[in-house]
Amino acid sequence: MKRLAILISGSGSNLQAIIDAVQAGQLDAQIAVVVSNRREAFGLTRAKQAGIPTLYFPLKPYRDAGRSREEYDADLAERLAACAPDLIVLAGWMHIFSPAFLARFRGCVLNLHPALPGQFPGMHAIQRAFEAYQRGEIAHTGVVVHWAVPEVDAGAVIAQAEVPIYAGDTLAELETRVHQSEHRLLVEAIRSAIS
Ligand code: GRF
Repeated sequence: MKRLAILISGSGSNLQAIIDAVQAGQLDAQIAVVVSNRREAFGLTRAKQAGIPTLYFPLKPYRDAGRSREEYDADLAERLAACAPDLIVLAGWMHIFSPAFLARFRGCVLNLHPALPGQFPGMHAIQRAFEAYQRGEIAHTGVVVHWAVPEVDAGAVIAQAEVPIYAGDTLAELETRVHQSEHRLLVEAIRSAIS
């Protein structure tokens, strides 16, 4: 059975979608570990509730000790390698990995991004799409799951889906619609990646 390492930084609703799919027998995989760089990430609670091993691995101690991001990435890579993952899933992981990390897990790291390929890379993608729609620049947005490469939110697409924006949408309504699309797409993309 393929082993997944899921990396999160926030509420973990996408992690929950993976947990639910595994528990429902809709995803033939095992979540070997859930890693968060933030202690208060609710995703850690979700993992513990599902009996999944967790790892809290913050960057701050490295920064406080004057150690580099590369050292952080290298130590995290060691911890991850010990879990023998077949696939590393960045489900709302808010650090940008070094090329060395991605090279170590070449072809095994996939990333979820709440926009269409090449659109709104980086933070606050949904809000930026919402504002672009208000300016008449786009008619819809979307979500993408792609292989992670050093360039942020780039890399070969595994799966993507359009998400409609409606006149009168609030940002919260669009965010909900985007996240619902993510939850479906991420499970499909993982299924495709491990098949
Ligand atoms: C998702 O929208 C993901 O695309 C983005 O951060 C959000 C994480 O949400 N990078 P959650 O923690 O899975 O609820």
